Amino acid sequence: MLSYQSLENDLNFDKALPVTEHWSAAPDFLVLISNYCLENKPLTIVECSSGTSSLVLSQCCKLSQTGHVYSLENGEEYMLQTVRQLEDFCLSEFCDVIHAPLVDVRLDDESFQWYALDDLPDVEIDMLVIDGPPGFLQKHSRYPALPILGQRLAEHCVVFLDDAARADEQALVKRWLKGSPDFQAEYIENERGCFVLKR
Ligand SMILES: C[S@@+](CC[C@H](N)C(=O)[O-])C[C@H]1O[C@@H](n2cnc3c(N)ncnc32)[C@H](O)[C@@H]1O
Repeated sequence: MLSYQSLENDLNFDKALPVTEHWSAAPDFLVLISNYCLENKPLTIVECSSGTSSLVLSQCCKLSQTGHVYSLENGEEYMLQTVRQLEDFCLSEFCDVIHAPLVDVRLDDESFQWYALDDLPDVEIDMLVIDGPPGFLQKHSRYPALPILGQRLAEHCVVFLDDAARADEQALVKRWLKGSPDFQAEYIENERGCFVLKR
């Protein structure tokens, strides 16, 4: 079983990662995204929700000496917390935590609460990591990520969706693939389930 401790060792962290039970991404998801990051060295990483994953992705950019993370965070207190943690780990230069309050967006005649993108620079995204907004907020909470950020994804991008063992995530991936048939999805059966999409 993968642990935060083994991840800390593998990524040369000099202290324990701050982890909030049930809210931080699970170690096996963090291993998946960090392995991808170290092997493929994406230049621009965007993540939906900040926290432990921001530290892990930033550490990969530091180790590779390439790449930058833009982390969308709707909760101001969590945004400030992640900023402090990045400072504490001397990783601030690798990650911008963007306060992105949830706003009403309309897609397919449906309303969703999703991140305001006013402060996200106009970047081409090589790696998109989706671990928010929280699933309890609404049906298909993370669905807007692909329809909204799709135009900003690089041709050879990768998308990681956490918590994909849930029926809600399984259903929203079907919706994604219907709307974006150029993507292929691979399901990885880990602690909480993960979809990896590529085209
Ligand atoms: C699944 S969490 C984000 C996890 C993040 N990717 C990580 O690895 O730590 C999704 C969102 O829940 C919110 N959140 C984080 N910790 C929380 C807590 N203890 N209670 C309520 N909401 C929390 C934050 O807004 C966060 O962006």
